[in-house]
Amino acid sequence: MKLRIAIQRSGKLAEGSIALLKKCGIGFSNGTGKLRAEAEDFPLEIFFIRDDDIPDYVADSVADIGIVGENILAENPKRVEVVEKLGFGRCRLSIALSRLDKFDGLDSFNGKRIATSYPNILGRFFAERGIEADIHEISGSVEIAPSIGLADAVCDLVSSGSTLFSNGLREVETVMESQAVLIRRPGIDGETESILEQLLFRLRSVRAASQNKYILLNAPKDKAGEIARLLPGMKSPTMMPLAEEGWVSIHSVISQHDFWEVVDRLKQAGAEGILVLSIDQMIA
Ligand code: PRP
Ligand code: ZN
Repeated sequence: MKLRIAIQRSGKLAEGSIALLKKCGIGFSNGTGKLRAEAEDFPLEIFFIRDDDIPDYVADSVADIGIVGENILAENPKRVEVVEKLGFGRCRLSIALSRLDKFDGLDSFNGKRIATSYPNILGRFFAERGIEADIHEISGSVEIAPSIGLADAVCDLVSSGSTLFSNGLREVETVMESQAVLIRRPGIDGETESILEQLLFRLRSVRAASQNKYILLNAPKDKAGEIARLLPGMKSPTMMPLAEEGWVSIHSVISQHDFWEVVDRLKQAGAEGILVLSIDQMIA
């Protein structure tokens, strides 16, 4: 029995999806042109497909789970369940204009033609705001539409912004934010479900690890209590005496998010020799 996962073959989510599985200790070969792989050390079969097709694969039970952008699900809802957000592949669906055109607010899109591969999301966005634009659906290379006279504006995914920039466009409005999510089909049987549970356990420990850092530092003994309070850790910080009398070494875990703020306070409190390491897995 194997769990079947569908991931993007090429594009912005492909690399992150492969990296995430590998960090979960799942080895497989993914040469170019490969459409299918069996994991070497985990009961998983991987399908490499176009991202737009992933929700269908999962809804039709061709795959049990998949990794896909929220944008794809919002455009084309399917009978799949979102298991969790994966924290990578962050991007936004935005409306962009030629750099030379001035932007007079959303109302100025009334009667204008906008090219997009996301007609449903954009249609809802305009409808909610009472704007009547002519949404022109095209499936790819949306960004060239204004320069060839096909549309007045575009609505497409932006991550670094380099595609917009190199096509002389500028972003004027965010329609939705998106990131990669794990989806599953309803009705996975018991044995496959338990493989999914194992995979989820690994995914969560990798994700928790990526959001945290391991920190170690030296502190004078009389400051140790104050410093330890800044570093709650998973349970409480570890404290060990240094060979030098009157000093301790403190080890703990700190969230990536709080890190810079806490580091300043640690230094003020008398911490020295602060080392920060990344964590591979974290199991609470
Ligand atoms: C997206 C999107 C844009 C580009 C934007 O394509 O369609 O063309 O990335 O990225 P940038 O702001 O970093 O330049 P993606 O690779 O996700 O493939 P797809 O949309 O064709 O599936
Ligand atoms: Zn795509």
